[in-house]
Amino acid sequence: MSMLERAEAAERAMSEELDRTIVKSVIYVSGDRDPRVPLTRPDNGKLVMMGQDPRLPRMLERPTLFDFFKYRFGPANHLMQSARLAQKNGVAEKLVLACLLHDIGIAGFIRGDHGYWGAQMLEPYVDEEVAWAIRYHQALRFFADESVGYAYPKMYVKLFGADYQPDPYIQRDYQYAREHKWYMSARLICVNDLYAFDPTVQVQLEEFTDVVGRHFRQPKEGLGWDASPSAHMWRTIMMPTKYL
Ligand SMILES: [Fe+2]
Ligand SMILES: [Fe+2]
Repeated sequence: MSMLERAEAAERAMSEELDRTIVKSVIYVSGDRDPRVPLTRPDNGKLVMMGQDPRLPRMLERPTLFDFFKYRFGPANHLMQSARLAQKNGVAEKLVLACLLHDIGIAGFIRGDHGYWGAQMLEPYVDEEVAWAIRYHQALRFFADESVGYAYPKMYVKLFGADYQPDPYIQRDYQYAREHKWYMSARLICVNDLYAFDPTVQVQLEEFTDVVGRHFRQPKEGLGWDASPSAHMWRTIMMPTKYL
């Protein structure tokens, strides 16, 4: 058996233990599998997953931003430590929120283009400037700004190689952001973006209750169940294995 076949067999065995069949979306497996080959639903007589996956912590009926942090965003130390650093540096409160949320694209969803995804998820619920800053931190991360002491991250040399050149769309968006009145807001996310988080520093989400309360418009129906243009993204994070 190849590695992929073994993984698929393990998956079948696992899904047989569940009441419902889980068919992974293409993006879960694209690359491991050739996306030109259709993903088929195992013919096991079971119903398919159409709600919350029992392997995941159950989301509350009207989930809040903090519920997503607790049950879907993984240990969000990087985000909390960045927000705390921003607070310590005297950054305006709504930009502390931007720091707290800047990587929720990665934390809950997907790595590539996470700044754009995160901004889109958040747009209906935060100040326009906060979403803007999150969108453009993506591009600004790749470009130094000596005036605020931001150097090109050493970590990027390690991750991408010394001769890495950002894609043309990142360069274009950087040029655009550079001239924008909110440039410094996105830049402040980069300045307070902590790469090497300190495992000895414990930050509690509750430290940001007031910041979130003042600057995040929590929908009364719960995130995902409201009718905002990005509610479906929150639902996908809540129920990533929903069949349709
Ligand atoms: Fe980021
Ligand atoms: Fe970050």
